[in-house]
Amino acid sequence: MQFEAISIEGLSHRFLSRTRPPTTALTDVTCSFPAGKVTSIVGPSGCGKSTLLLIMRGLVEQSQGAVRFMYGDGSGRLVPGEAPRMATVWQSFNLLPWRTVTDNVAFGLELGGMPAAERREKALEAIKAVELAGFENHYPGQLSGGMKQRVGLARGLVMSPDILFLDEPFGALDAQTRLYLQEQLAELVERSAKTVILITHSIEEAIFLGDHVVVMTARPGRIAATIDVDLPRPRNIDVQNNPRFGELFSEIYGLLREEVRKSMMN
Ligand SMILES: Nc1ncnc2c1ncn2[C@@H]1O[C@H](COP(=O)(O)OP(=O)(O)OP(=O)(O)O)[C@@H](O)[C@H]1O
Ligand SMILES: [Mg+2]
Repeated sequence: MQFEAISIEGLSHRFLSRTRPPTTALTDVTCSFPAGKVTSIVGPSGCGKSTLLLIMRGLVEQSQGAVRFMYGDGSGRLVPGEAPRMATVWQSFNLLPWRTVTDNVAFGLELGGMPAAERREKALEAIKAVELAGFENHYPGQLSGGMKQRVGLARGLVMSPDILFLDEPFGALDAQTRLYLQEQLAELVERSAKTVILITHSIEEAIFLGDHVVVMTARPGRIAATIDVDLPRPRNIDVQNNPRFGELFSEIYGLLREEVRKSMMN
C-alpha cells in the first residue's frame, strides 16, 4: 500500500501543570499533509507548532482528536495504517554532547542496528551534504549554533525517512548558509519526492520550499488557512523575483499580521 497522507482530525491539546493553570496549545486542528509534498507551517510564536509535531511523532499524547497515517488501498480509498519511517530535525538541536559529529549523525542508524562501517559511510555523506566536512570528530560543544543546527539536519537526512519533519531547521544559520541549505533542501525534495513538514518563522522560506503553506492562528493554535504555492518547480532562490511570489507573501503576511498582534497581547 502506498502512503498518501497524514490526516489530522479535531486535534486539541492542553498541557496540565500542578503549579500553574493549564495551557491550551491547540484547539480543533483539522488538516491533511499530503505524501510527496512539502507542507510549510507558519504561525506566531507559542501557537502550538512544535506541540503539533510532538503529537505527530507520538511523543506527546493529545487531549483530543486523532493523527492517522493514510494509505491507498488500491481501489481509490484511503485507509489508516502504521506510521511510515520518520525523522525529525528538532528546534533545539538535541545533540548528544559526549558523541562526535559523526556519531551524533549516525545515532539513529545505530539504534536501527546498521553495522558500524555502513553507518559511518552514510553519516560522512550526510555531513558533507550540510557542508561540515572537516568537523567529523568535533564534539557539539566545539561547534557554533549554526553548525550544531547543520548536524541536526544531517541526522535527519541520514535516515532517508519517508516523512521528514523539520522544526525551524535554519533558524540559527547565518543568512548565506541559510540560503545555500534552503536551495539544497529544495533540490533534495524535488529529486526524492519526500514528504516534508517544515515549521518556519520565515514566510519566504515557507513559500520557497513549500507546495502548501498552513497558516496557524495565535495560541491556542487552529488552522487559519492553507495556501497552495502555485509556483513552478524546480525552484531556486530566483523564484522570489516571480510576481506570484510577492502575491503569496502578501496574502500570508496579511493572515499572520493580525495573529502575531494577538499573540503579543496575551
Ligand atoms: N511541556 C509543556 N508544558 C506546558 N506548556 C507547554 C509545554 N510545551 C509547550 N507549552 C506551551 O504550549 C504552547 C505552544 O508551545 P509550542 O512550543 O508548541 O509553540 P510553537 O508554536 O512551537 O512556538 P515557537 O514558534 O516559539 O517555537 C506555548 O504556550 C507553550 O508555553
Ligand atoms: Mg516551536
